[in-house]
Amino acid sequence: MRFDVVTLFPDFVRQSADVGVVGRAQQRGLLQVETWNPRDYATDNYRTVDGRPFGGGPGMVMLIDPLRATLAAVREAAPEPVHVIYLSPQGARLTQARVEALAKTPRVALICGRYEGVDERLLQHEVDEELSIGDYVLSGGELGAAVIIDAVGRLQDGALNDAQSAQQDSFSDGLLDCPHYTRPVHHDVWGGVPEVLLSGDHAAIRRWRHKQSLGRTWLRRPDLLTQRALDDESRALLDEFRREYTRLNGAADNGRRNKN
Ligand SMILES: C[S@@+](CC[C@H](N)C(=O)[O-])C[C@H]1O[C@@H](n2cnc3c(N)ncnc32)[C@H](O)[C@@H]1O
Repeated sequence: MRFDVVTLFPDFVRQSADVGVVGRAQQRGLLQVETWNPRDYATDNYRTVDGRPFGGGPGMVMLIDPLRATLAAVREAAPEPVHVIYLSPQGARLTQARVEALAKTPRVALICGRYEGVDERLLQHEVDEELSIGDYVLSGGELGAAVIIDAVGRLQDGALNDAQSAQQDSFSDGLLDCPHYTRPVHHDVWGGVPEVLLSGDHAAIRRWRHKQSLGRTWLRRPDLLTQRALDDESRALLDEFRREYTRLNGAADNGRRNKN
């Protein structure tokens, strides 16, 4: 898979894409990340990429022509058709389902806005999709591009050392992940780990993990459970979790860890 990132800050994008799992995926030839600076496609001596907004008001707006010329160069750089995404707080919110679909798209261009954003005409004529990474406003699209490259890059076949790990992550089957524990078995201050994880009984461990996933989702993201039909086993496990939880914490405690 190939990403072409249109950005005024190519180093920023490169640095974030060159480390960890995604950096390794590039080294393994599973992923290609190219950056394109619209300043290189500006035609005046000052390499201007922005202009004052018509109608007045604060800030600057990214000009059509440097971006249009950059995208033309992107399209010509490889034979596959390019799916063009503009990072925008006004876009559809990024989800794991969208990430999984993008991971199967051979070529994706990511346009990183700056200032007040991009001239609307360029968006109307060149962009296939607008994506937001959350309901807040960033000063530029580069962090959004880094998020997409990371989330999509780690799903490329062979990027993760254990392919199963992505299948067990939060959201991949519509639930949050279960809690994880590692050495020591008994911590001086915070005690032991759930016995079942030390039992070697794989069926019991699988059942415990699934129950914890269901319970955590119920506690922290109940909205996810309303979007997902539970089979009989899952329903029974969730009921068991709720009974145990209520017995320990009382019916009044809704158990949310994030109590802001
Ligand atoms: C200061 S923002 C512009 C915000 C724009 N005036 C608005 O309110 O919709 C500059 C750039 O940051 C990027 N950006 C800001 N928030 C974002 C978000 N939540 N998700 C993705 N990109 C974002 C976009 O590329 C945007 O063009």
